[in-house]
Amino acid sequence: MMTSVLRPGGDLSLEYPLVFDEGGPGALLALTEGEEVLSACAVLERELIYPGGRARAGFIGSVATRADARGRGCATQLLSEVERLLKGHGCEHALLWADDPNFYQRRGYRLDGRETDYLVSEIPSTELDPSLNVRSLLSGDEDRLHELYTRHGARVGRSAQETARLLVCPEMKVLIATRGEQIEAYACFGRGADLAGVVHEWGGSPEGVLSCLDALLEQADSLFLMAPGAAGPMGELLEACGAIRAEGRLGMVKPLGAVGGLPEGAFVWGLDSI
Ligand SMILES: CC(C)(COP(=O)(O)OP(=O)(O)OC[C@H]1O[C@@H](n2cnc3c(N)ncnc32)[C@H](O)[C@@H]1OP(=O)(O)O)[C@@H](O)C(=O)NCCC(=O)NCCS
Repeated sequence: MMTSVLRPGGDLSLEYPLVFDEGGPGALLALTEGEEVLSACAVLERELIYPGGRARAGFIGSVATRADARGRGCATQLLSEVERLLKGHGCEHALLWADDPNFYQRRGYRLDGRETDYLVSEIPSTELDPSLNVRSLLSGDEDRLHELYTRHGARVGRSAQETARLLVCPEMKVLIATRGEQIEAYACFGRGADLAGVVHEWGGSPEGVLSCLDALLEQADSLFLMAPGAAGPMGELLEACGAIRAEGRLGMVKPLGAVGGLPEGAFVWGLDSI
């Protein structure tokens, strides 16, 4: 039902393995009438790690109600059940990405999180480090990439096994920048309809990421790179390359307890968004 509503003719489960894989860390929750699923969504409980703290949050995604059951309060009821469940599990916030923010705003969510996007169409050769090489992901790279991911001061917490699972999503290209034998950086490009044409995760040295982007630009006229609110040296390097920069809100948040809003900088992009 979720695929038929959200990816007609496609397969949503290939894009979001952490919630659709059997035995994965996420869950699918459904509102049913008899045997029929009327409304469903995906849920993934995660720890947000940010400079100075951690917060437990529940990501809600892929909310869908069967076309013939809409306008009866199904999604509203499902959401409040999910929020109750998350709160019971100690989550302080519910987080989501919305196609229609108004629907969620009326249910207590507000825009939150900072995201900086760059539109990159060319990388001057003068900005490239000639001692770096770029190749595709190889089996055995996963632990090093996970280690580079954990160097981000603000990130969504996840295990090395989860990183390894996410790295092999179909339709996602993972490029690796090496210096000699050492992996120095990586960039993940594309994944399903939500992230087509987007570099949505990267890690390691900004110079290495830039080399990966340069390789990706051999097959694309331009690409988007998502960065956390404070893009730091990566952002500076992209701006030196003439990339166009835009800032916005990342998603929507609803506090589930007495804690209030998320601390600034806690809600950032991450490969395992659902
Ligand atoms: C968005 C979506 C999930 C909403 O599902 P839904 O079950 O129809 O949602 P609800 O019935 O709870 O609420 C929708 C509207 O129905 C009306 N409604 C809600 N409860 C009602 C009730 N008991 N009686 C009559 N009308 C009701 C309200 O007008 C409500 O709109 P509101 O935001 O102004 O309050 C559904 O339209 C959908 O699957 N869309 C396609 C996929 C999609 O866009 N998903 C969101 C991804 S971010």
